[in-house]
Amino acid sequence: MNSDAKKQAVAAAALDYLKPHLENDTVIGIGTGSTANCFIDALAPVRGRFAVTVASSEASAERLKSHGIPVQSLTSVDRVDFYVDGADQANSALQLIKGGGGALTREKIVAAVAREFICIADDSKLVHTLGEFPLPVEVIPMARSHVARCLVSLGGEPVYRDGFVTDNGNIILDVHRLSIAQPLALEEAINNITGVVCHGLFAHRPADVLLLAGDAGVRELRA
Ligand code: A5P
Repeated sequence: MNSDAKKQAVAAAALDYLKPHLENDTVIGIGTGSTANCFIDALAPVRGRFAVTVASSEASAERLKSHGIPVQSLTSVDRVDFYVDGADQANSALQLIKGGGGALTREKIVAAVAREFICIADDSKLVHTLGEFPLPVEVIPMARSHVARCLVSLGGEPVYRDGFVTDNGNIILDVHRLSIAQPLALEEAINNITGVVCHGLFAHRPADVLLLAGDAGVRELRA
């Protein structure tokens, strides 16, 4: 199975996972990226079977609307029942690196609110130790140099994502050469750097379920 086929298979599996739980008032959070896009496309035929979606990026909101799927802001819903999103890396505790697409801050907010976070990925994303994928950090533009120096002191090599502006008007530093042996501690340390808006290490709020597509089909992992 090639990478696109795995994305479509895991998106279909996520829909199968959700279907028994869909009610007229169900609110579904929607992630960002190519795997999340497959899930949006899979969701379109059942758009009458839940209430509304909340999108983690402008791009996902546009794709949802193009399918006629209702989208509301997070501030106008009283809860998010499920959040479905991809990841750049996952470990066996279902802690994640996310933000390759730059939507990490809104993704982390929707994940924080969601009752259940269903992560969908292909099996190349499962690793023993997070960090080989550069960790995206969203930064207030004027704090770029300060935050970069602090990230170096934590052992990383920050690289400015040239020409990229987040949906929130900020910049991204992609931090290379981190071997994240202690995800909880590193998440807190980076959160404590003044000028950091958010970053893509999901350690305190891991996924609840990881659906992982491989050549033999889709398997379900729980921490
Ligand atoms: C978007 O900001 C990211 O967090 C994506 O969810 C992540 O990069 C996975 O993307 P793909 O599904 O395109 O690999």
